[in-house]
Amino acid sequence: MSSTLSPRSALDAEAVKTAYRRWARVYDTVFGGISGYGRKRAVAAVNALPGERVLEVGVGTGLALPSYSRDKRITGIDLSEDMLERARIRVLQDHLTNVDDLLEMDAEATTFEDDSFDIAVAMFVASVVPHPDRLLAELKRVVKPGGHILFVNHFLATGGLRLSVERGMARASRSLGWHPDFAIESLLPPEDLRRATLTPVPPAGLFTLVTLPQCESKSDAAALVA
Ligand SMILES: C[S@@+](CC[C@H](N)C(=O)[O-])C[C@H]1O[C@@H](n2cnc3c(N)ncnc32)[C@H](O)[C@@H]1O
Repeated sequence: MSSTLSPRSALDAEAVKTAYRRWARVYDTVFGGISGYGRKRAVAAVNALPGERVLEVGVGTGLALPSYSRDKRITGIDLSEDMLERARIRVLQDHLTNVDDLLEMDAEATTFEDDSFDIAVAMFVASVVPHPDRLLAELKRVVKPGGHILFVNHFLATGGLRLSVERGMARASRSLGWHPDFAIESLLPPEDLRRATLTPVPPAGLFTLVTLPQCESKSDAAALVA
């Protein structure tokens, strides 16, 4: 991964846990509103796709969990036990019987078997994980051929005032717990960027929904990078 594309200040796993230990109590109030459209669009896209088994990566406080259709079976993972604790309370309070598991696990190195899920979705997570390229590789491993990988995220603007503001905000990455200067090319290599569907999401196209279909076979996937 080119260092010019990667965010400039790395957030390691411990920094993520520390940041989200602080955020957990106030996360839904501070971040739940502005990110609501993106979360709703991503879950609606998941609900419309074929396949039952869904992995939600970086499930956080579980804000998306009540919106999945009941015929989807959800497994959520997160690095932060403090965030997961809130997701578990939500599952109990809302009687979300289609949530199978909420596990403390690193999305870059999960313990799932190959091809365990039909769909993986990561909402506002790609710019938080230490190594987005490892996240993508892991999701490709655990999602079945013909399945789908979805991201919704804020990506670095390509120009104008927003670019300067985001570059400036990047200095606060550690306390924010995410990278304002996260470019889409840090997540998707050119061959995936060509295949992905990118949909701007409100408010003001600040976020983007990315839908990446898995190749039908391992040999198709290998041919893409050849
Ligand atoms: C901005 S929050 C998004 C939470 C949730 N997806 C939502 O839409 O509100 C980012 C979440 O990703 C989690 N996270 C960061 N790095 C992770 C990793 N490597 N593996 C699993 N979860 C991770 C954080 O702990 C945090 O809960």
